[in-house]
Amino acid sequence: PLANRFLGLTSQEKLLAERLNIERCFIVRGDRTAGDAVTKQLGTILNDALAKLLPEGNNIIVVMGGSTMASVAAQLTPELSVSRKLTFVPGRGGIGESVNKQANSVAATMAKRTHGEARPLYIPEQLSESTYHPLLNEPTVKPVLELIKHAGVAIHGIGNAGVMARRRGVNEEISNYLRKAKAVGEAFGSFYNKEGRILYQVHRIGLQLNDVQHFNHVFAVASGHDKAQAIESYMKIAPHQTILITDEGAANVILKK
Ligand code: BG6
Repeated sequence: PLANRFLGLTSQEKLLAERLNIERCFIVRGDRTAGDAVTKQLGTILNDALAKLLPEGNNIIVVMGGSTMASVAAQLTPELSVSRKLTFVPGRGGIGESVNKQANSVAATMAKRTHGEARPLYIPEQLSESTYHPLLNEPTVKPVLELIKHAGVAIHGIGNAGVMARRRGVNEEISNYLRKAKAVGEAFGSFYNKEGRILYQVHRIGLQLNDVQHFNHVFAVASGHDKAQAIESYMKIAPHQTILITDEGAANVILKK
């Protein structure tokens, strides 16, 4: 099935990649919001794509959090570690949301599933500048931040702005601003509008949108018609080497425009 998926790019996948101006798209059947078993399929595609694209030897893979990431993590398989040594690193420390959605948990699950390794990063998300600066040199933090910087692969989710503002616990002033400025989506802690202009960046330690511009492979996993605008607008600022793994729910809305 892997070879088929890679050779047999559907015309819709090709169109979508062209429209979004990124390297490649995968579209699975169904719509996440209709309760279809979409996320499982997204995870299988991610597994196949990693198997195909990761070079032999050491691979450092930075992963973000979120419910999509948490469920695709469970679909990875030990075959990925055949002739590779995989190290999964969370792109972020903690987040105010539930433990199973945190990047640390996603990295741990991926490591377990693939028989790879995970390196934890424990830093609260919302810290004042004066508190977090000294942390950057802590012996438990610094080497992990170095790994993030030297990673070649990132896997991340894309969220709706309103949902993510609530989940990230941004204060009232900022969430009002985001609403007025018509924020549509969020990725890597950056909130952006329809045109892909960044409106606000949650101040955090770890992987930022700018960092991934030089990565070899960047996998964006996001689905459902309700995320169509967030996905489309994010791709205006995404690195060109982005591979989008999505569903028909999102793809149909974007392609209809
Ligand atoms: C977060 C990512 O953890 O997950 C965000 O850091 C992303 O960048 C979000 O927007 C998406 O979450 P979900 O639950 O909709 O997959």
